[in-house]
This record gives sequence, C-alpha cells and structure tokens, in this order.
Amino acid sequence: MTTNNPKAVIVIFGATGDLANRKLYPSIYRLYRNGKLSDNFAVIGVARRPWTNEIFRDKVKESIESFDDDHIDADEFASHFHYNPFDIQDLDHYEKLENLINELDVKHDTDGNRLFYFSMAPNFFGTLAANLKSEGLTTTKGWTRLVIEKPFGHDYQSAKELNDQIREAFNEDQIYRIDHYLGKEMVQNIEVIRFANALFEPLWNNQYISNIQITSSEVLGVEERGRYYDGAGALKDMMQNHMLQMLALIAMDPPIKLTPEEIRSEKVKALRALRVLNEDEVGQYFVRGQYDKGLVNGEELPAYRDGNGVDPESNTDTFVAAKLMIDNFRWAGVPFYLRTGKRMKQKSTEIVVEFKDLPMNLYYGKEHETKSNLLVIHVQPHEGITLHVNAKKGDYNASSTPITLSYDNNSDDKMNTPEAYEILLHDCMRGDSTNFTHWDEVALSWKFTDVIAKAWSQKKADFPNYASGSNGPKEADQLLHNDGFEWWDVTPD
Ligand code: BG6
Repeated sequence: MTTNNPKAVIVIFGATGDLANRKLYPSIYRLYRNGKLSDNFAVIGVARRPWTNEIFRDKVKESIESFDDDHIDADEFASHFHYNPFDIQDLDHYEKLENLINELDVKHDTDGNRLFYFSMAPNFFGTLAANLKSEGLTTTKGWTRLVIEKPFGHDYQSAKELNDQIREAFNEDQIYRIDHYLGKEMVQNIEVIRFANALFEPLWNNQYISNIQITSSEVLGVEERGRYYDGAGALKDMMQNHMLQMLALIAMDPPIKLTPEEIRSEKVKALRALRVLNEDEVGQYFVRGQYDKGLVNGEELPAYRDGNGVDPESNTDTFVAAKLMIDNFRWAGVPFYLRTGKRMKQKSTEIVVEFKDLPMNLYYGKEHETKSNLLVIHVQPHEGITLHVNAKKGDYNASSTPITLSYDNNSDDKMNTPEAYEILLHDCMRGDSTNFTHWDEVALSWKFTDVIAKAWSQKKADFPNYASGSNGPKEADQLLHNDGFEWWDVTPD
C-alpha cells in the first residue's frame, strides 16, 4: 500500500456525465479539503464533447458549489483539472492523452501513478481497456489502477467476456470494480459490529437467529434511466450486486486477518454456499414486481410503463423480493429475505437480524408485550444501530415491553460521515481493494441471478402489481408469512 495522502493523475472517462458531476468531483473535493489527497494530483476529464479546460473547471466548480468552505480556494482546486476531448475508437487520441498525463505527472510530481476511472457507457469498457494497453498508457514507472463502474456485464457470460477483455490489459490486483454500497459507512460497519463485539458473534448462527432481512427501498422511479433500466430491472440493477454484497458481509465467517484477500475469500465462500435454484423453484423463492401509478408524497405519479420511454408492455421488474438459503454449517435452515424496489413508500436501507425466542420465555402471555430481539443496522438515510430487547414495563406489574437501545451514527460527534465514493476513491489510491468486488464474487453473483432471470424471461409477469408509494406486491409479504415471519418496519421516524 502507498501513503495515506496519495499522489496520482486521475483520468476520468465519462467526465461530462452525471456520475462524475454528482459524485466524483465532490468526492475528490472532499478528499482534498479533508487533507486526504496530497497537492500532488491532477484530474484529466475525458469525453467526446469539445470542451475546454475553462468549461470543465467551471463545471467542476459548480459541482462543489454547495460546500461552504472559506479556507478552500475553489479556483486553486479547479486548476488541478484538465479536459481532454477524446474518441475511444481513434488511436491517435491515445498518444495525445499519454502526453498530457506525462506533462501533468511532471508538473504535479505524481510519481508516475495513474488511476483510470471508467464511468461511461459500459459497452466501451472492453475496447478502452484494450486500447489503453496497446497504446502504452498502462505502462508507467508508478502504479496503474483501473476503477470500473457497474454494470459489470448483464449476465455471467457477458461479464466473463468483459472481464477477459479487461484482464488482457490489467491484472486482477489493478482492477477496482465499484459497488458503491461497499463504500457506505454502515455497510463497512458490519464487519466491526460482528467481529469486534463479544456480544454478537457467538449468537451469529442458526442456533440463535431465526431469519435475516435486508431491505433497500427507493422512492424514486427510474427517472431518466429508462433505456438502461428496462434492459436490466431490479434483479440485475440491485440484487446481483449491492444486495448480495450486503448478504455476503452478514453471512461470511470471520476472516483470519483483515486483509482484502482474507475477507474476499470468506465472502466468496458465503456466496458459494447460496442454494442454487432450479428454474421451476424460482416462483417459490422469488417475487418480482413492477410499479403502477400511485400516490407518492401527495403526488400522483405514473406507472413504470407510462412514464419512462420504456416499452408500454415492459416485463421489467422494478421490485424483487427473495428468500435465500445458505447451505453451510452456520446458516442451514435460516432464511435470508432480501427485497429492493423503486417507487416504494420510503427511501431506506436496513438490515434486520431477528433472533429466536428463548426456549422457555416466562414473559409471554396476554399481560406481556414481549417481542423478538432484533439487531438492526440502519444503512441509510439514517445511519446507526438499534437493538430491540424486552424490559419491564414501568407500571405496578412485572409485565414486559419492548424497548430499543440506539446508536446514531449521525449524531453531533460524527457529523462528517464520508461519502461512499470518497472512501472508495481514497481506498483505491492507497491500493486497498477490500471494498471493491473481486471477479470471483461478480461471477458467483451472476451465476446465481442468471437462473432467476432465465426463469422470468420465459413467463410474462402480471404487471403492474404494486402501487407507487407502497411496500411492493403482496406476494412479497406472503413469502415471509409462509414461513411464519413478517417484514419488520424498523425505519426510524
Ligand atoms: C445504483 C442503481 O447502483 O444504485 C440505481 O443503478 C439505484 O438504480 C442506486 O437507484 C441506489 O443507490 P443508493 O446509494 O441511492 O441506495
């Protein structure tokens, strides 16, 4: 690993895009402001548009306008940014880019370190990687790393082809595949909560846990992304990556060390233990949904099929709920319920670990309100942990009532939680790949979801089947009722 204040020339392909504007420039700014980036850095924005450095710097400054830091000179910060108009197919453009990188390397003294960030249409990922190599841009006296945005393929086969192409140009340890959920503070907290507390790990198994629920719901619909989303759907857009990554962190065994290799190896083992379904079993374990019109925050919004430039007969899932079984010694018999969807009632990501009842709980009966013990990890928008336990009710009887013990990660002393992208960029520049997805994880996740996608593609769904602003289709509730459980509503008010 390199130092905490890395030096590098960062080359962002897709520099005029939405992600760069909304996430990357503000994250680089925050790193700079927080002293996590040395002054020895330069950013080259690469895209087709014929912008100049001035236009680019103005855009960068706009993207950081909301930060109100008197001590930072925005012009000085923006002076590190350079724009390079570029056509991926035109090999002459690579030489020009190489010259610019070298010039900035000398000017900013970046030790020859290069970070390529692919944040453009994924169909160009393979060609771009190949051309960077053939035109000599991947060879430098410092380190070269590649950060690559999702989607990484649209099924196992396409992901493998893409991976093979990229691996021609970069080694696995140079590739940083982004799953921005791994940069979220509370997702990173899962390992600490689990492995730094005597309280949880002894109970973290099928003897004490009855089921685990992971929900990531969104209020927004597909907005401007209909063209991409209609070919993907919630299964590929959220379940294959973010949801399965959270599941792997919750389900994995403790690693022997906190190194990227050891952690990954445990995550891979957990994913390998996922029960593979036959196509004809998919209906028992998976529920798909698509939003209809409905009332969201008092406003009547149109159905998915009516508002996004998508096929009016679209069969795309905007919601998915699943019951996953992990067939290993620790988890045999414990259902993991996962659900994610767009246009739901609230924006929230929560992980709920529900513990089994005591074999003989004396506080049951009509005078008691005893409930299951829950450990809730609030990922977003609220960040924190809540433990649900039972305690004596404050009255004249010895009756029980549920109470909660809460930790709020956003409380005053923790106001400045870093953004996911900020953490991930910093990790990559330091050479720490822990919070990026290794090819083995990507491959296993696609193989698992491919079966579901295939089963669904063979049968048209009865869509739309949930109202905008609701909690998804009723079949998602039934999935849990069949096992005697229900989704816990644990989002803080
Ligand atoms: C992205 C998906 O990966 O994650 C989007 O492509 C989704 O469809 C987004 O909206 C959700 O991320 P977050 O951080 O807002 O929960």
